[in-house]
Amino acid sequence: NWTMESFIDMEVEKLREAVGERQVLCALSGGVDSSVVAALVHKAIGDQLTCMFIDHGLLRKGEAESVMKTFTEDFDMKVMKIDAQDRFLGKLAGVSDPEQKRKIIGNEFIYVFEEEAAKLKDMDFLAQGTLYTDIIESGTDTAQTIKSHHNVGGLPEDMKFDLIEPLNTLFKDEVREVGAELGLPEEVVWRQPFPGPGLGIRVLGEITDEKLEIVRESDAILREEIKNAGLDREIWQYFTALPDMRSVGVMGDERTYDYTVGVRAVTSIDGMTSDWARIPYDVLEKISVRIVNEVANVNRVVYDITSKPPSTIEWE
Ligand code: XMP
Repeated sequence: NWTMESFIDMEVEKLREAVGERQVLCALSGGVDSSVVAALVHKAIGDQLTCMFIDHGLLRKGEAESVMKTFTEDFDMKVMKIDAQDRFLGKLAGVSDPEQKRKIIGNEFIYVFEEEAAKLKDMDFLAQGTLYTDIIESGTDTAQTIKSHHNVGGLPEDMKFDLIEPLNTLFKDEVREVGAELGLPEEVVWRQPFPGPGLGIRVLGEITDEKLEIVRESDAILREEIKNAGLDREIWQYFTALPDMRSVGVMGDERTYDYTVGVRAVTSIDGMTSDWARIPYDVLEKISVRIVNEVANVNRVVYDITSKPPSTIEWE
């Protein structure tokens, strides 16, 4: 792709010039934007880039491992993995209000990042995956007033770094093209949106290890079956959520009283509005049977058939 190739060449030149012999830090979340920034900056300055990947314990199944593999093994980058699961889950214990949870996760993310960044000497620049749309939308995002939208990577502006934002002239589809051109794997380039607070807002109400496990396992099954059915590019976002309720069921001759898993799958252009995806019944059936059989403490699966508005995509 000629346009993206020349974009990359030009940005690499600019980055080398701007950074010189100095050091760059990048908060890597595994999302499209931060992944493309990291790969682009790495192409320009190699080991002068250090990435920080914070595992807040609210990631999907296999996500931390796959981010680490892609960037440290395949791309040979310096990535510090910060295992902050206990810290986040500790802060979240007993908290059930969605906005409160968002605030705690967003703030904690900043604290962890600042603490870890302070341990690194001589970092001069911070590379961020700001897109053109982030700039024009900021301040007028109506969704922001409905949910606070703490985004991982939304770091404080008063940090002592100079910002590097090489994607800030691009739209999302162009960022994907740049990512593909840089050799990032399809699963990164075409990754579905994943909220900064992660599974923390998909376990409704208070977060416990048991509930996180149910969401993580059921979500992995859903993703696998959507992929098997060849629907992963068609459906904009798909995930499971765990309402804070139990219901009665029967397994063998036994009465059960267990959790209900909600399946959410939507088509959308930008997340501002959405429709529920018309997943074929046989695919839904497979998803339901597998979740009930394979995930402990679940005896019911429901499919969310509401559009946005009046619903939102996430359940919290
Ligand atoms: P809603 O639920 O508001 O979601 O219809 C619209 C899109 O935004 C994502 N979302 C978030 N992303 N931090 C994020 O970074 C958040 O707190 C957050 N809440 C929702 C959601 O996954 C969907 O793509």
